[in-house]
Amino acid sequence: MRVVVIGAAGYVGGELLRLLFQHPSITEVTATSRSQAGKPLGDIHPALRHLADIRFAGLSPAEAVRDADVVFLALEHGESSKVMAEVIDQGAGLVIDLAADFRIHDGRLHETCYGVHPAPALVPRFEYGLADIRGTELRGAKAIAAPGCFATAAQLALYALKDAPLATEPAVYAITGSSGAGVHPRPTTHHPARAHNVFGYSVLGHRHEGEIAEQWRAWTGRAEAMPRLLSHSGPFVRGIYATVHASLRSPEGPAVVAAATKAFADRAFVRVQATPPELTHVVGTNDALLHIATSRAGTEVVVMVAIDNLIKGAGGQAVQAMNLALGLEETAGLRAPGAFPI
Ligand SMILES: NC(=O)c1ccc[n+]([C@@H]2O[C@H](COP(=O)([O-])OP(=O)(O)OC[C@H]3O[C@@H](n4cnc5c(N)ncnc54)[C@H](OP(=O)(O)O)[C@@H]3O)[C@@H](O)[C@H]2O)c1
Repeated sequence: MRVVVIGAAGYVGGELLRLLFQHPSITEVTATSRSQAGKPLGDIHPALRHLADIRFAGLSPAEAVRDADVVFLALEHGESSKVMAEVIDQGAGLVIDLAADFRIHDGRLHETCYGVHPAPALVPRFEYGLADIRGTELRGAKAIAAPGCFATAAQLALYALKDAPLATEPAVYAITGSSGAGVHPRPTTHHPARAHNVFGYSVLGHRHEGEIAEQWRAWTGRAEAMPRLLSHSGPFVRGIYATVHASLRSPEGPAVVAAATKAFADRAFVRVQATPPELTHVVGTNDALLHIATSRAGTEVVVMVAIDNLIKGAGGQAVQAMNLALGLEETAGLRAPGAFPI
Protein backbone atom coordinates (compact mmCIF):
# COMPACT_ATOMS: atom_id res chain seq x y z
CA MET A 1 0.00 0.00 0.00
CA ARG A 2 1.12 3.56 -0.66
CA VAL A 3 0.58 5.90 2.25
CA VAL A 4 0.97 9.68 2.48
CA VAL A 5 1.49 11.68 5.68
CA ILE A 6 0.73 15.39 5.26
CA GLY A 7 2.33 17.49 7.99
CA ALA A 8 4.96 14.84 8.61
CA ALA A 9 7.50 17.13 10.31
CA GLY A 10 5.33 17.62 13.40
CA TYR A 11 5.18 15.39 16.45
CA VAL A 12 2.10 13.45 15.36
CA GLY A 13 3.48 13.20 11.81
CA GLY A 14 6.70 11.73 13.20
CA GLU A 15 4.83 9.20 15.30
CA LEU A 16 2.77 8.17 12.28
CA LEU A 17 5.92 7.68 10.22
CA ARG A 18 7.51 5.57 12.97
CA LEU A 19 4.50 3.24 13.01
CA LEU A 20 3.88 3.18 9.25
CA PHE A 21 7.49 2.29 8.38
CA GLN A 22 7.08 -0.81 10.53
CA HIS A 23 3.61 -1.76 9.29
CA PRO A 24 3.55 -5.08 7.39
CA SER A 25 1.10 -3.94 4.67
CA ILE A 26 2.82 -0.65 3.77
CA THR A 27 5.39 -0.56 1.02
CA GLU A 28 5.75 3.15 0.27
CA VAL A 29 5.48 6.25 2.46
CA THR A 30 5.46 9.87 1.27
CA ALA A 31 6.04 12.50 3.97
CA THR A 32 5.18 16.14 3.22
CA SER A 33 6.21 19.30 5.00
CA ARG A 34 6.20 22.94 3.97
CA SER A 35 9.04 24.09 6.22
CA GLN A 36 11.25 20.99 5.89
CA ALA A 37 10.75 20.21 2.18
CA GLY A 38 13.84 18.57 0.67
CA LYS A 39 15.46 17.75 4.01
CA PRO A 40 16.32 14.13 4.87
CA LEU A 41 13.83 12.54 7.25
CA GLY A 42 16.54 11.93 9.86
CA ASP A 43 17.30 15.66 10.17
CA ILE A 44 13.89 16.20 11.77
CA HIS A 45 13.08 12.77 13.19
CA PRO A 46 16.54 11.43 14.13
CA ALA A 47 15.18 8.23 15.67
CA LEU A 48 13.72 7.26 12.28
CA ARG A 49 16.93 7.82 10.31
CA HIS A 50 17.69 4.11 9.93
CA LEU A 51 14.12 3.14 8.97
CA ALA A 52 13.88 4.89 5.61
CA ASP A 53 16.09 6.87 3.26
CA ILE A 54 13.54 9.50 2.23
CA ARG A 55 13.28 13.28 2.18
CA PHE A 56 10.34 15.50 3.06
CA ALA A 57 8.33 16.35 -0.04
CA GLY A 58 7.23 19.92 -0.57
CA LEU A 59 4.18 18.81 -2.54
CA SER A 60 0.80 20.41 -1.98
CA PRO A 61 -1.68 18.06 -0.29
CA ALA A 62 -3.56 17.55 -3.58
CA GLU A 63 -0.35 16.63 -5.44
CA ALA A 64 0.91 14.37 -2.68
CA VAL A 65 -2.19 12.23 -2.35
CA ARG A 66 -2.57 11.32 -6.02
CA ASP A 67 -2.60 7.47 -6.31
CA ALA A 68 -2.38 7.06 -2.53
CA ASP A 69 -4.18 4.21 -0.84
CA VAL A 70 -4.28 5.93 2.55
CA VAL A 71 -3.74 9.58 3.48
CA PHE A 72 -3.07 10.86 7.00
CA LEU A 73 -3.31 14.59 7.70
CA ALA A 74 -1.43 15.72 10.82
CA LEU A 75 -1.85 19.48 10.45
CA GLU A 76 -2.49 22.28 12.89
CA HIS A 77 -6.13 22.91 13.71
CA GLY A 78 -8.04 24.48 10.82
CA GLU A 79 -5.50 23.53 8.13
CA SER A 80 -7.16 20.28 7.07
CA SER A 81 -10.48 22.07 6.47
CA LYS A 82 -8.68 24.21 3.87
CA VAL A 83 -7.36 21.24 1.87
CA MET A 84 -9.79 18.39 2.60
CA ALA A 85 -12.06 18.90 -0.44
CA GLU A 86 -9.15 18.59 -2.87
CA VAL A 87 -7.65 15.69 -0.93
CA ILE A 88 -10.93 13.78 -1.11
CA ASP A 89 -11.34 14.65 -4.80
CA GLN A 90 -8.08 12.85 -5.59
CA GLY A 91 -9.86 9.61 -4.71
CA ALA A 92 -7.63 8.09 -2.02
CA GLY A 93 -9.16 4.92 -0.61
CA LEU A 94 -9.04 6.20 2.96
CA VAL A 95 -8.43 9.63 4.49
CA ILE A 96 -7.63 9.96 8.20
CA ASP A 97 -7.53 13.43 9.71
CA LEU A 98 -5.82 13.88 13.08
CA ALA A 99 -6.91 17.46 13.68
CA ALA A 100 -10.17 18.49 15.34
CA ASP A 101 -11.78 19.81 12.15
CA PHE A 102 -14.04 16.82 11.40
CA ARG A 103 -14.54 15.19 14.78
CA ILE A 104 -17.83 16.79 15.86
CA HIS A 105 -20.99 16.20 13.82
CA ASP A 106 -23.29 18.44 15.87
CA GLY A 107 -22.77 21.86 14.26
CA ARG A 108 -23.80 23.74 17.40
CA LEU A 109 -21.37 21.81 19.54
CA HIS A 110 -18.56 22.35 17.02
CA GLU A 111 -19.26 26.06 16.95
CA THR A 112 -19.18 26.31 20.75
CA CYS A 113 -15.71 24.77 20.82
CA TYR A 114 -14.09 25.96 17.59
CA GLY A 115 -16.28 28.68 16.04
CA VAL A 116 -17.99 28.54 12.65
CA HIS A 117 -16.92 25.50 10.60
CA PRO A 118 -15.21 26.47 7.33
CA ALA A 119 -16.22 23.27 5.51
CA PRO A 120 -19.40 21.95 7.17
CA ALA A 121 -20.56 19.98 4.10
CA LEU A 122 -17.63 17.58 4.52
CA VAL A 123 -18.26 16.74 8.18
CA PRO A 124 -20.91 14.01 7.60
CA ARG A 125 -18.43 12.04 5.49
CA PHE A 126 -16.26 11.40 8.54
CA GLU A 127 -16.53 8.52 10.99
CA TYR A 128 -15.33 9.27 14.50
CA GLY A 129 -12.26 7.06 14.90
CA LEU A 130 -12.33 6.10 18.58
CA ALA A 131 -10.84 2.78 17.58
CA ASP A 132 -11.08 0.85 20.86
CA ILE A 133 -14.80 1.58 21.08
CA ARG A 134 -15.87 1.67 17.42
CA GLY A 135 -13.93 -1.50 16.50
CA THR A 136 -15.36 -3.24 13.44
CA GLU A 137 -17.93 -0.45 12.94
CA LEU A 138 -15.07 1.35 11.17
CA ARG A 139 -14.81 -1.38 8.52
CA GLY A 140 -15.15 0.16 5.06
CA ALA A 141 -14.91 3.78 6.27
CA LYS A 142 -13.51 6.15 3.64
CA ALA A 143 -12.89 9.14 5.93
CA ILE A 144 -12.05 9.03 9.62
CA ALA A 145 -11.57 11.83 12.15
CA ALA A 146 -9.11 10.58 14.76
CA PRO A 147 -10.08 11.73 18.28
CA GLY A 148 -8.07 14.23 20.31
CA CYS A 149 -5.57 12.99 22.87
CA PHE A 150 -7.40 14.23 26.00
CA ALA A 151 -10.67 13.15 24.39
CA THR A 152 -9.37 9.61 23.86
CA ALA A 153 -8.32 9.22 27.48
CA ALA A 154 -11.52 10.82 28.78
CA GLN A 155 -13.81 8.76 26.56
CA LEU A 156 -12.18 5.44 27.42
CA ALA A 157 -12.75 6.25 31.10
CA LEU A 158 -16.31 7.48 30.49
CA TYR A 159 -17.23 4.50 28.31
CA ALA A 160 -16.63 2.33 31.35
CA LEU A 161 -19.43 4.27 33.08
CA LYS A 162 -21.93 4.62 30.24
CA ASP A 163 -24.49 2.30 31.86
CA ALA A 164 -23.76 3.21 35.47
CA PRO A 165 -26.50 4.92 37.53
CA LEU A 166 -24.59 8.18 37.99
CA ALA A 167 -26.03 10.76 40.39
CA THR A 168 -24.20 13.66 38.71
CA GLU A 169 -22.51 14.47 35.43
CA PRO A 170 -18.99 13.01 35.52
CA ALA A 171 -15.93 15.27 35.53
CA VAL A 172 -12.62 14.13 34.06
CA TYR A 173 -9.43 15.40 35.74
CA ALA A 174 -6.57 14.99 33.27
CA ILE A 175 -2.89 15.92 33.03
CA THR A 176 -0.86 15.94 29.84
CA GLY A 177 2.77 16.06 28.82
CA SER A 178 4.28 18.89 26.76
CA SER A 179 4.33 17.02 23.41
CA GLY A 180 0.54 17.50 23.34
CA ALA A 181 1.18 21.10 22.30
CA GLY A 182 3.08 20.27 19.11
CA VAL A 183 6.54 20.97 17.75
CA HIS A 184 6.49 24.77 17.73
CA PRO A 185 7.75 26.22 21.04
CA ARG A 186 5.41 28.43 23.05
CA PRO A 187 5.80 30.11 26.44
CA THR A 188 3.74 27.32 28.04
CA THR A 189 5.81 24.54 26.44
CA HIS A 190 9.25 26.04 27.06
CA HIS A 191 11.33 23.74 29.31
CA PRO A 192 11.82 26.18 32.22
CA ALA A 193 8.07 26.80 32.32
CA ARG A 194 7.16 23.10 32.21
CA ALA A 195 9.84 21.28 34.19
CA HIS A 196 9.01 20.89 37.90
CA ASN A 197 5.67 22.56 37.26
CA VAL A 198 1.95 21.74 37.07
CA PHE A 199 -0.77 24.16 36.00
CA GLY A 200 -4.38 24.06 34.91
CA TYR A 201 -5.59 25.60 31.68
CA SER A 202 -8.69 25.99 29.47
CA VAL A 203 -10.68 26.11 32.72
CA LEU A 204 -14.33 25.07 32.23
CA GLY A 205 -14.01 25.30 28.47
CA HIS A 206 -11.46 22.87 27.00
CA ARG A 207 -12.19 22.36 23.31
CA HIS A 208 -12.14 18.56 23.59
CA GLU A 209 -15.29 18.77 25.72
CA GLY A 210 -17.26 18.99 22.46
CA GLU A 211 -16.24 15.62 21.06
CA ILE A 212 -16.39 14.04 24.52
CA ALA A 213 -19.94 15.32 24.99
CA GLU A 214 -21.05 14.15 21.55
CA GLN A 215 -19.97 10.56 22.21
CA TRP A 216 -21.22 10.58 25.82
CA ARG A 217 -24.63 11.82 24.64
CA ALA A 218 -24.80 8.99 22.09
CA TRP A 219 -23.84 6.37 24.69
CA THR A 220 -26.18 7.59 27.41
CA GLY A 221 -29.07 8.87 25.26
CA ARG A 222 -29.05 12.19 27.19
CA ALA A 223 -29.07 14.92 24.54
CA GLU A 224 -27.81 17.79 26.70
CA ALA A 225 -25.26 15.91 28.82
CA MET A 226 -21.96 17.77 29.19
CA PRO A 227 -19.15 15.99 31.03
CA ARG A 228 -16.40 18.38 32.10
CA LEU A 229 -12.73 18.00 31.15
CA LEU A 230 -10.45 19.61 33.74
CA SER A 231 -7.13 19.88 31.96
CA HIS A 232 -3.66 20.30 33.44
CA SER A 233 -0.11 20.49 32.12
CA GLY A 234 2.44 18.20 33.72
CA PRO A 235 6.26 18.15 33.85
CA PHE A 236 6.75 15.27 31.42
CA VAL A 237 6.92 14.98 27.63
CA ARG A 238 4.62 12.11 26.69
CA GLY A 239 1.43 10.80 28.14
CA ILE A 240 -1.98 11.64 29.54
CA TYR A 241 -3.32 10.49 32.89
CA ALA A 242 -7.03 10.98 33.55
CA THR A 243 -9.26 10.27 36.54
CA VAL A 244 -13.06 10.32 36.58
CA HIS A 245 -14.93 10.42 39.87
CA ALA A 246 -18.72 10.23 40.14
CA SER A 247 -21.38 9.49 42.73
CA LEU A 248 -23.82 6.65 42.13
CA ARG A 249 -27.56 6.98 42.70
CA SER A 250 -27.70 3.67 44.59
CA PRO A 251 -25.08 1.43 46.20
CA GLU A 252 -24.19 -0.98 43.39
CA GLY A 253 -20.42 -0.96 43.39
CA PRO A 254 -19.50 -4.49 42.25
CA ALA A 255 -22.06 -4.43 39.40
CA VAL A 256 -20.60 -1.16 38.08
CA VAL A 257 -17.07 -2.54 38.15
CA ALA A 258 -18.16 -5.78 36.45
CA ALA A 259 -20.04 -3.92 33.69
CA ALA A 260 -17.12 -1.57 33.09
CA THR A 261 -14.64 -4.43 32.92
CA LYS A 262 -16.91 -6.35 30.52
CA ALA A 263 -17.14 -3.33 28.21
CA PHE A 264 -13.46 -3.79 27.29
CA ALA A 265 -13.23 -7.58 27.63
CA ASP A 266 -12.30 -8.32 24.00
CA ARG A 267 -10.40 -5.14 23.13
CA ALA A 268 -6.80 -5.68 22.10
CA PHE A 269 -5.28 -2.50 23.50
CA VAL A 270 -7.40 -1.71 26.54
CA ARG A 271 -6.41 -3.47 29.74
CA VAL A 272 -8.40 -3.12 32.92
CA GLN A 273 -6.12 -3.79 35.87
CA ALA A 274 -6.57 -4.23 39.61
CA THR A 275 -4.37 -1.27 40.55
CA PRO A 276 -4.17 2.35 39.33
CA PRO A 277 -2.17 2.57 36.08
CA GLU A 278 1.17 4.33 35.80
CA LEU A 279 2.04 6.62 32.92
CA THR A 280 5.44 5.03 32.24
CA HIS A 281 3.72 1.68 31.67
CA VAL A 282 2.02 2.98 28.51
CA VAL A 283 4.56 5.44 27.12
CA GLY A 284 5.72 4.17 23.72
CA THR A 285 2.69 1.88 23.30
CA ASN A 286 -0.77 1.94 21.79
CA ASP A 287 -2.22 0.63 25.06
CA ALA A 288 -4.72 2.20 27.42
CA LEU A 289 -4.46 1.00 31.01
CA LEU A 290 -7.58 1.41 33.16
CA HIS A 291 -8.45 0.92 36.79
CA ILE A 292 -12.04 0.95 38.03
CA ALA A 293 -12.99 1.02 41.69
CA THR A 294 -15.98 1.81 43.88
CA SER A 295 -16.08 3.06 47.44
CA ARG A 296 -16.68 0.66 50.32
CA ALA A 297 -20.31 1.80 50.51
CA GLY A 298 -20.68 1.31 46.76
CA THR A 299 -21.94 4.85 46.20
CA GLU A 300 -18.91 6.36 44.45
CA VAL A 301 -16.95 5.20 41.42
CA VAL A 302 -13.51 6.10 40.09
CA VAL A 303 -12.01 5.29 36.70
CA MET A 304 -8.34 6.01 36.01
CA VAL A 305 -6.72 5.77 32.60
CA ALA A 306 -3.19 6.24 31.24
CA ILE A 307 -2.29 6.60 27.55
CA ASP A 308 0.57 7.84 25.38
CA ASN A 309 -0.84 11.03 23.82
CA LEU A 310 1.16 10.65 20.60
CA ILE A 311 0.33 6.95 20.10
CA LYS A 312 -3.03 5.96 21.58
CA GLY A 313 -4.02 9.64 21.55
CA ALA A 314 -2.93 10.24 17.94
CA GLY A 315 -0.75 8.19 15.53
CA GLY A 316 -1.32 4.73 17.02
CA GLN A 317 -5.08 5.12 17.22
CA ALA A 318 -5.10 6.43 13.64
CA VAL A 319 -3.15 3.38 12.40
CA GLN A 320 -5.50 1.13 14.40
CA ALA A 321 -8.46 2.87 12.73
CA MET A 322 -6.80 2.33 9.34
CA ASN A 323 -6.41 -1.37 10.10
CA LEU A 324 -10.06 -1.62 11.10
CA ALA A 325 -11.30 0.36 8.09
CA LEU A 326 -9.34 -1.74 5.62
CA GLY A 327 -10.11 -5.08 7.27
CA LEU A 328 -6.46 -5.67 8.24
CA GLU A 329 -5.52 -7.25 11.54
CA GLU A 330 -6.42 -4.58 14.12
CA THR A 331 -3.06 -4.84 15.88
CA ALA A 332 -0.89 -4.81 12.73
CA GLY A 333 2.14 -2.56 13.21
CA LEU A 334 1.09 -1.68 16.75
CA ARG A 335 2.29 -4.53 18.91
CA ALA A 336 5.70 -3.16 19.96
CA PRO A 337 5.99 -2.90 23.75
CA GLY A 338 7.16 0.29 25.44
CA ALA A 339 10.44 0.73 27.28
CA PHE A 340 10.51 0.71 31.08
CA PRO A 341 11.87 2.52 32.97
CA ILE A 342 12.00 5.62 30.77
N1 LIG B 1 0.43 16.39 19.87
C1 LIG B 1 -0.53 15.57 20.28
O1 LIG B 1 -0.43 14.93 21.34
C2 LIG B 1 -1.79 15.40 19.45
C3 LIG B 1 -2.65 14.37 19.77
C4 LIG B 1 -3.81 14.18 19.00
C5 LIG B 1 -4.08 15.03 17.95
N2 LIG B 1 -3.24 16.06 17.68
C6 LIG B 1 -3.57 16.92 16.54
O2 LIG B 1 -2.76 16.52 15.46
C7 LIG B 1 -2.40 17.66 14.66
C8 LIG B 1 -0.87 17.72 14.60
O3 LIG B 1 -0.40 17.88 15.93
P1 LIG B 1 1.14 17.99 16.25
O4 LIG B 1 1.26 17.99 17.71
O5 LIG B 1 1.92 17.05 15.43
O6 LIG B 1 1.40 19.47 15.72
P2 LIG B 1 2.78 20.08 15.22
O7 LIG B 1 3.89 19.36 15.89
O8 LIG B 1 2.64 21.54 15.35
O9 LIG B 1 2.81 19.68 13.68
C9 LIG B 1 1.90 20.15 12.73
C10 LIG B 1 2.61 20.14 11.41
O10 LIG B 1 1.71 20.51 10.36
C11 LIG B 1 2.52 21.01 9.31
N3 LIG B 1 1.69 21.70 8.34
C12 LIG B 1 0.76 22.65 8.59
N4 LIG B 1 0.14 22.99 7.43
C13 LIG B 1 0.68 22.20 6.44
C14 LIG B 1 0.44 22.04 5.05
N5 LIG B 1 -0.51 22.78 4.43
N6 LIG B 1 1.17 21.13 4.35
C15 LIG B 1 2.12 20.38 4.96
N7 LIG B 1 2.39 20.49 6.30
C16 LIG B 1 1.67 21.38 7.01
C17 LIG B 1 3.56 21.86 10.00
O11 LIG B 1 4.78 21.68 9.36
P3 LIG B 1 5.28 22.60 8.21
O12 LIG B 1 5.36 23.99 8.77
O13 LIG B 1 6.58 21.99 7.88
O14 LIG B 1 4.32 22.48 7.12
C18 LIG B 1 3.73 21.15 11.36
O15 LIG B 1 4.95 20.43 11.43
C19 LIG B 1 -3.03 18.87 15.35
O16 LIG B 1 -4.22 19.20 14.71
C20 LIG B 1 -3.27 18.39 16.77
O17 LIG B 1 -4.35 19.04 17.39
C21 LIG B 1 -2.09 16.25 18.39
